[in-house]
Amino acid sequence: MNNYIEKMNGLKIEIEDKLNNVLSSKELNELKVTYLSKKGPIGELSSLMKDLSIDEKKEFGKVLNEFKDGINALFDSKKEEIESLELAKKIDAEKIDVTLPSTKIPIGSSNILERVVEEFEEVFMSMGYDVVDGPEIEEDKYNFELLGLPKGHPARDAQDTFYVKGDELLMRSHTSPVQARVMTSKNGEEPVRVICPGKAYRRDDDDATHSHQFTQVEGLIVDKNIKLSDLKGTVTVICKHLFGSDTVTRFRPSYYQFTEPSVEMDISCFNCKGKGCNICKNTGWITIGGAGVVHYDVLKGCGYDPNIWSGFAFGFGAERCAMLKYGINDIRIFYNTDLRELKAFDRREG
Ligand code: PHE
Repeated sequence: MNNYIEKMNGLKIEIEDKLNNVLSSKELNELKVTYLSKKGPIGELSSLMKDLSIDEKKEFGKVLNEFKDGINALFDSKKEEIESLELAKKIDAEKIDVTLPSTKIPIGSSNILERVVEEFEEVFMSMGYDVVDGPEIEEDKYNFELLGLPKGHPARDAQDTFYVKGDELLMRSHTSPVQARVMTSKNGEEPVRVICPGKAYRRDDDDATHSHQFTQVEGLIVDKNIKLSDLKGTVTVICKHLFGSDTVTRFRPSYYQFTEPSVEMDISCFNCKGKGCNICKNTGWITIGGAGVVHYDVLKGCGYDPNIWSGFAFGFGAERCAMLKYGINDIRIFYNTDLRELKAFDRREG
């Protein structure tokens, strides 16, 4: 018996010694197989039982079980130690340095044309105007006829139009048909205060200042006692807001079939403050759109009694305004898809 106990003690020291050098789960498993499998040294000890007497068996069995439990406990605690070591290693390997600079994902930004339109919308909304929409494929009736341009009228030529179907459907050549649409929808009974920003199309050859597609910000007010002076006041406030508080406005007599009187709207050149430079072609003034008092016949044709109601309308060229505001000299830039150009817009101050 003592022999066996000595052997067990020896084995225990040997195992403890080997366990001390184990560094991974793999090594630990291998060691476990070597010592704890049936054919291992502990298994061999068990097989000695068969040569003992019953009493010895009892005693030896007890000692052997305690020994086995002790060895298993040694393996278990080593397992725990190794697992926590391995976990620490894994966490260390997967550690993320949150202070490292990240990969930049480029984000989009709004086109400056869009920004200028939004500025128009904001300032008009603050003055109680609604923003409305109209179709870009328009009926001849709204684009021309209700605006005092019957078929065959020579002034139609000035708005070289894309026709879509026969001579009835066209790509709107200005945003003024929205005036006619809004007015006819009110049955001549309600006041109107709207702006309609949107695209318009003309058969222009594209160059630095012309594009077959362009953007207008149309405005219309219909109420009682609306006069040309109201138009001047409104446009002046808007221009000061958009182009700077020292902006001066000028209204030159002009001609549109749907307004009477009609005006051309100019602002003092924001660059030279009216002294004359290459932006304003040395005139000191820059034209930004057309406007006028809504024509008697237009009010009437759209269901309003012109003896009670009056109004004014205006159309700003949005590209023109954006070009002036951001110092751009080619209208085509708004419609190309060159990201370098578009990025440059972000750095431009209005
Ligand atoms: N529709 C005109 C144009 O395209 C501009 C305008 C709008 C003029 C409203 C008067 C009133 O040139």
